[in-house]
Amino acid sequence: MGHDARTIGRDIMIFKPLSYQDMETVRGWRNDIMETLRTPYELTEEMQQDFYREVICDRRGSTRYWGFWRGSNLVGYGGIENIEWENRRGEISVLIAPRRRGEGLGAAAVASILTRAFDYLNLDIVHGECYYSSKAVDFWYKMAVRYNGHTTVLPGTKYYKRRYWSSLLFVFTKPQTDVPDMDIVRKL
Ligand SMILES: CC(C)(COP(=O)(O)OP(=O)(O)OC[C@H]1O[C@@H](n2cnc3c(N)ncnc32)[C@H](O)[C@@H]1OP(=O)(O)O)[C@@H](O)C(=O)NCCC(=O)NCCS
Repeated sequence: MGHDARTIGRDIMIFKPLSYQDMETVRGWRNDIMETLRTPYELTEEMQQDFYREVICDRRGSTRYWGFWRGSNLVGYGGIENIEWENRRGEISVLIAPRRRGEGLGAAAVASILTRAFDYLNLDIVHGECYYSSKAVDFWYKMAVRYNGHTTVLPGTKYYKRRYWSSLLFVFTKPQTDVPDMDIVRKL
């Protein structure tokens, strides 16, 4: 039986809005995983600052990212990007601090992000892509199975280290369709 995003991993980490200092920490983690990135180049402090101002701080933007905290430590970062409000879908992204990988934090982050996407942003579909050049591909496959998602493979999407790698595409769908609360209308 699949797990429900609403009941897993909720209290393991606290999600907080990102500060610029957080982004500097994340820049170091990000610049270390070129095999994983769709934009495979290292970012300078200035580039990261631009990204923070233009994307993270954009009130009308299509990105909802948070920092994940355990106590006083920033242990990860991610959320939903490329949100298409008309289509009620968005793309999931998770990055866990290198020293904290393998502790269950990535799985907890996925649970919390799905809850936020489905229960608060009112998205119906959360999708993602992971290149086979990344070690994370098995993690995402596992998450897709866990939440009764769908997967498919798109061949030859990523050039890295003198070869083309395929992508695992995965989709999570909202557990059930919500209907407006009609009780209040009946009482009027
Ligand atoms: C991928 C990533 C988010 C996983 O987070 P994590 O905290 O290390 O993973 P977890 O400890 O929560 O693991 C959850 C499950 O996935 C499995 N898993 C995690 N990484 C795995 C790997 N590289 N290979 C195989 N299985 C893996 C774990 O064994 C665990 O399985 P279990 O529930 O059966 O015990 C993290 O390693 C990371 O940030 N990597 C670099 C960035 C990245 O690649 N992001 C994804 C972009 S596509």
